[in-house]
Amino acid sequence: MTTPSNLAIHIKGLSKTYKTGFWFKPKITHALNNLTLDVYEKEAFGLLGLNGAGKTTAIKIILGFLAPTAGSVQVLGGKISDREVRNQIGYLSELPYFSRQHTGRELLEYFGSLHGLSGSKLHRRVDEVLELVRMSKASREKVSGYSKGMLQRIGIGQALIGKPKLLICDEPMSGLDPVGYKEMRDIFIDLKKMGTTLFLNTHIMDEVERVCDRIGILHGGQLREVASVSDILQSSVHVDYWVDVDSQDASRLAGTPFQKSIAENGGVQITGSSLSETLNLLNQRQVKTKGLRPLSSVMEAYFLKSIAGQSSTESGRASK
Ligand SMILES: Nc1ncnc2c1ncn2[C@@H]1O[C@H](COP(=O)(O)OP(=O)(O)O)[C@@H](O)[C@H]1O
Ligand SMILES: [Mg+2]
Repeated sequence: MTTPSNLAIHIKGLSKTYKTGFWFKPKITHALNNLTLDVYEKEAFGLLGLNGAGKTTAIKIILGFLAPTAGSVQVLGGKISDREVRNQIGYLSELPYFSRQHTGRELLEYFGSLHGLSGSKLHRRVDEVLELVRMSKASREKVSGYSKGMLQRIGIGQALIGKPKLLICDEPMSGLDPVGYKEMRDIFIDLKKMGTTLFLNTHIMDEVERVCDRIGILHGGQLREVASVSDILQSSVHVDYWVDVDSQDASRLAGTPFQKSIAENGGVQITGSSLSETLNLLNQRQVKTKGLRPLSSVMEAYFLKSIAGQSSTESGRASK
């Protein structure tokens, strides 16, 4: 199989069927269905999908933890069974587990030694990684006292210790508080600048907007589409808005669908496509708008539209 040299991950016709249950009552789950996807070197790619979409299954197959039912995967131009290839990959699992009685530094030293580092080289690399994942200060504290965000950052640290070309993270932001969230996002942005290829699975849209170059939307094991984040942000997908209006003004809107909501809730939800029309109507009836805020991000609206099967971009497009 030949692949263009600038592909970090080359997935072709990948399917995975899980068979569980008993022989007399088998349960078959088509977790992935004919997934074809390319991830370029040095890009940040986000695979989006609801729970059960097949994201973790895809990652496990890419990493060689699971065998596919059909299809093939090439990683960094080779096979995942090849040690050379595996040494260039860092991985943060969905629920990383670390020994709690060690310090963060000790853990990174251990993982560094697994990569063949020792002595001053090991210490230098551990210091570098601790800095990168914003854990230098807490590095001599025991893992048992770490917050969820700190655990995730040490998790990223262990994945980075061997200077991987490709970093694969399964739901790296889930369960983080806003501070942990921002720190994680900044780490990804730094890694991108350093030229690391990122492959993230996530259901958190905000992360995707700020970190990823392209996204793929997986739904029920099928890739709905691949699109560039900048195209999506400039697309004509409409988000819903909430308009704050004084509830006393409700009577001015008699005969419109807005009267009830304004009287009861002091505002009204409108779709983006009818935004200017609605604002004009409020203006005509001399109703003052006190505020206007989007109810979701463009990315979220795009995702929801895509899984509902009404996306505006070509299906399976792979433009950068
Ligand atoms: N080991 C397994 N055995 C049986 N079914 C599984 C197994 N792992 C995942 N599944 C099923 O495959 C589908 C995809 O799961 P998963 O890849 O974990 O999705 P995601 O990571 O997007 O939440 C789900 O329906 C899930 O229940
Ligand atoms: Mg998962």
